[in-house]
Amino acid sequence: MKVNFVLNGRNISYEIAPGEYLADTLRANHILSVKKACDEAACGACTVLLDGRPILSCSFLSARVEGRSVTTVEAVQDEVSEISDFFSDEGADQCGFCNTGLALTILALRNELKNPTDEEIKHFVVGNLCRCTGYQAQFKAIKRYLEAHK
Ligand code: FES
Ligand code: FES
Repeated sequence: MKVNFVLNGRNISYEIAPGEYLADTLRANHILSVKKACDEAACGACTVLLDGRPILSCSFLSARVEGRSVTTVEAVQDEVSEISDFFSDEGADQCGFCNTGLALTILALRNELKNPTDEEIKHFVVGNLCRCTGYQAQFKAIKRYLEAHK
């Protein structure tokens, strides 16, 4: 079967199997920024944006993106590079495996919440796990990034 959607601003038609998940479809089509770790909707590494909202692509059926718009970091490299600079400044950049999913979540946070409280920020990114940083440095970097874009 085919699924037709907009991927990073381009109309796409991919052959998919029934029951196939979006992370697998994207990776099979060379969108390798989409990471898979837990593969059971528990870590956030596979986050992409669907119509601007973060979803876990490892557990989202590819057929469900029909007619919708999917964004991966390939389409927002300037924004992700800027977020990376804030992470580097705070020492929050370590192995980097979580970075792509977290960066997309941060972009959605920036678009959705104006002047979020600390609790709102933490709540928004709670699904993006990181095995390396202990979260404090990431949190500081996110706060500074959001403050720079008020
Ligand atoms: S790989 Fe999708 S949530 Fe962990
Ligand atoms: S920096 Fe290694 S998992 Fe987050």
